[in-house]
Amino acid sequence: MNETRRHLLASLTAAGAGALLIGCSATSTNNTGATNDDGKEPAPGEAVPEQVTAIEDLMREHGILRRALLVYQDLASRFRQDPDATPLSSLEKTAQLFRVFGEDYHEKRLEEGFIIPVIKKVQGGAAGYGDVLLAQHARGREITDYLLSLSKADRLSIHQSEGAARALDSFVRMYEHHAAFEDTIVFPAWKAATGEQEYQELGEKFEEIETEQFGADGFEAALKRITEIEAELGLTNLDTFTAPAPPK
Ligand SMILES: [Fe+2]
Ligand SMILES: [Fe+2]
Repeated sequence: MNETRRHLLASLTAAGAGALLIGCSATSTNNTGATNDDGKEPAPGEAVPEQVTAIEDLMREHGILRRALLVYQDLASRFRQDPDATPLSSLEKTAQLFRVFGEDYHEKRLEEGFIIPVIKKVQGGAAGYGDVLLAQHARGREITDYLLSLSKADRLSIHQSEGAARALDSFVRMYEHHAAFEDTIVFPAWKAATGEQEYQELGEKFEEIETEQFGADGFEAALKRITEIEAELGLTNLDTFTAPAPPK
C-alpha cells in the first residue's frame, strides 16, 4: 500500500469512527421488522439502527461520487480561469477519495465482485454493459493516477492546467453516464436476477465489506470528507446552485 493511500485510509477510518457514533444516534423508528444489534425484536416505537438495502447502498455511494464529480467540474473551470489560484490540495483530496471509496471499494469490491459477473450472464440488454463498465472503471483509474500525479506539483504550467481541465471534464462526462446507466439499467437487472433471500443477504454482506475496508462506517466517513472538500471550495450551500429564472 503506498503512502498516499495509507494516509487517506487512516484519515477516512478516523473520520468514520467519529461519524459512526453519529450514525448510531441517527436511528429510525422500527416499522420494518428489523431487529436491534442483540437480535431481539424492539419494543413498539423503539429506535433501531437504519437498515440499508444493497441497491440503496450502491446508489448512495454514487451520491458521494457525484458530489466528487461536481468538485471536479468546479476545479476544471478554475484551472481554465486562474490556474495559479486553483488549490491542488483539493484536487488531491478528491482524487484520493475517488480512489479509496469509488475505485477500490465501490467498483472493485462491490460492482466487480458481485454485480458485473451476474450482469454478464443475464438475458437481455443489460448483459452488454458488463465489459463497458469494466473498461470505464479501468480508464477512470488511469485518469485518477494522472490527477494524483499532477496534484503533487507545487504549481502547474498552463499546459498542465489545460491537460488537467480536459481530463477532469472527460472523467465527469464518462462517470455521469456510467453511474446513471448503473442506477437505471444495471442495478435493477442485477436485482431481478438475484433471489429475494440472496438479495437481502448481499445487503448485509456489502455492509460487512464496508466495515472490513474502512474499519467503521465508510459512507459516513466519505460523506464527511467530501463535505470538507466542498467547504474548501465554497460549494457547501445548495441554494447557490438554484438556477436563475429562464428568459421571459
Ligand atoms: Fe461502475
Ligand atoms: Fe457504480
